[in-house]
Amino acid sequence: MMFFHFLKHCPCILLFLLFTFFYTSTEAYDPLDPDGNITVKWDIINWTPDGYVAVVTMNNFQLYRHIPAPGWSLGWTWAKKEVIWAMVGGQTTEQGDCSKFKGVIPHCCKGNPTVVDLFPGVPYNQQIANCCKGGVLTSWAQDPANAVSAFQLSVGRAGSSKKTVRLPQNFTLNTPGPGYTCGPAKLVKPTRFITPDKKRVTQALMTWNVTCTYSQFLAQKTPTCCVALSSFYNDTIVPCPTCSCGCQGNSAQTGSCVDPSASASHLASVVSSHEKNNITPLVRCTSHMCPIRVHWHIKLNYKLYWRVKVTITNFNYRMNHSNWNLVVQHPNFDNLTQIFSFNYKSINPYGSINDTALLYGVKFYNDFLMQAGPIGNVQSELLFQKNLTTFTFEKGWAFPRRIYFNGDNCVMPPPDAYPWLPNTGSKQEVSLLALIMASLVAIVLHAHS
Ligand SMILES: *[C@@H]1O[C@H](CO)[C@@H](O)[C@H](O)[C@H]1NC(C)=O
Ligand SMILES: *[C@@H]1O[C@H](CO)[C@@H](O)[C@H](O)[C@H]1NC(C)=O
Ligand SMILES: *[C@@H]1O[C@H](CO)[C@@H](O)[C@H](O)[C@H]1NC(C)=O
Ligand SMILES: *[C@@H]1O[C@H](CO)[C@@H](O)[C@H](O)[C@H]1NC(C)=O
Ligand SMILES: *[C@@H]1O[C@H](CO)[C@@H](O)[C@H](O)[C@H]1NC(C)=O
Ligand SMILES: *[C@@H]1O[C@H](CO)[C@@H](O)[C@H](O)[C@H]1NC(C)=O
Ligand SMILES: *[C@@H]1O[C@H](CO)[C@@H](O)[C@H](O)[C@H]1NC(C)=O
Ligand SMILES: *[C@@H]1O[C@H](CO)[C@@H](O)[C@H](O)[C@H]1NC(C)=O
Repeated sequence: MMFFHFLKHCPCILLFLLFTFFYTSTEAYDPLDPDGNITVKWDIINWTPDGYVAVVTMNNFQLYRHIPAPGWSLGWTWAKKEVIWAMVGGQTTEQGDCSKFKGVIPHCCKGNPTVVDLFPGVPYNQQIANCCKGGVLTSWAQDPANAVSAFQLSVGRAGSSKKTVRLPQNFTLNTPGPGYTCGPAKLVKPTRFITPDKKRVTQALMTWNVTCTYSQFLAQKTPTCCVALSSFYNDTIVPCPTCSCGCQGNSAQTGSCVDPSASASHLASVVSSHEKNNITPLVRCTSHMCPIRVHWHIKLNYKLYWRVKVTITNFNYRMNHSNWNLVVQHPNFDNLTQIFSFNYKSINPYGSINDTALLYGVKFYNDFLMQAGPIGNVQSELLFQKNLTTFTFEKGWAFPRRIYFNGDNCVMPPPDAYPWLPNTGSKQEVSLLALIMASLVAIVLHAHS
């Protein structure tokens, strides 16, 4: 609220905010993970008569954005007329026109191949280390050991005996939709490999890196998540804003929804009548139409501590979330005393400010958020120690500043709708300003879509 009062006195702040909004929206930049990227590294490990053998490794350095099923696909354009003779641990989606070849036929002759991962359980002779995860990459902060994927390919130029290597161009990364932009391939210092017995170090003959970054604006996704708020001191549950992720009846944009009061057998038939591999959500009908709702409830107030209950509910009948995660920004995370049944990691990209938490499920207990239905939710309680000079229930201080589910920003209720403490003053002018602000943001968003 303070914030809006401030605005009243200085309209230039509003302009400034708007400006930064423009800036950040075009710059593909996530303030909570400013260095987040996926690096694609090509290590040439052998020369062949007409080319080379390379191991391609993808590292997901994003702190909390993972690549869920159905997984990544990586494309590029060859600089010359290269072909892929063979692949291990991955495959191209199309072979292309190999009619020029006699005898041994290449794996792929396309000028712009697209590679996808193999699935676990392929024969051992088709595997290499870190391959064959169905294209699923965990995030760096949550599970670094599984934030890597790799495949091997042998590249040649039929009829050529020259070994000149030209870097591939125009890399694209889809997961499966858009959102990532990849820079050019850059030659870097050759990777050093340490043998398993640690007695010898070998190195790649040549290495190049490609860096891909994510932008929510490029992804052009409608929001997938929203936030509801409540507290012990006020009976009102502030729900997710209406139409956060779509509006009921606006089916062209959002897909249809399922009425939860329908009988179980009707529900089952609606859900199964949609194709299995379709990843567009089929949500329960709600006013917000979001596949995911996060509920932040201020549960208890002690003298030196306070307690919050967080519940994540899945409204999507078509999606189980394995390895889900939540990023929550709140100033009291610098003094989180206890957390029940979720894992916690602090994320502090700016070093000194410790106000952002990565929360995720406990393995084999609640790391799997089930599709919509009676068990489609996970919950936790957080116990914070108060800093008595800053702690307050006023002005919505105790509510989160920002929440992401699986890296996607969740729509928050407008600040003037937050549950009030009993006996706080009128908020008329605030709502007017909030309205102006909201419409400006809407205009900006519109201009970008
Ligand atoms: C990619 O991410 C890593 C890890 O956060 C970081 O060290 C590196 O600087 C990033 N690269 C680019 C080009 O941003
Ligand atoms: C190239 O990528 C690897 C990870 O795949 C990273 O460790 C290395 O630092 C990168 N090199 C440069 C120069 O960015
Ligand atoms: C790569 O993309 C740029 C811009 O889209 C285009 O001008 C260029 O021709 C492409 N290069 C190849 C080899 O496709
Ligand atoms: C989600 O998991 C449950 C239990 O493993 C399974 O029965 C269901 O078919 C899965 N749903 C989807 C959409 O994959
Ligand atoms: C942030 O604060 C929490 C206590 O809430 C502490 O456990 C964690 O180590 C802190 N992180 C950093 C980087 O200071
Ligand atoms: C948490 O707050 C208490 C009381 O304000 C303080 O003594 C303690 O050092 C704080 N802990 C951290 C990790 O900041
Ligand atoms: C409480 O917050 C104030 C203001 O941010 C800070 O100066 C003080 O160090 C904090 N106290 C503790 C114990 O963390
Ligand atoms: C609870 O908060 C709502 C705003 O969300 C407000 O309209 C209502 O008057 C508050 N109730 C009490 C008892 O203060």
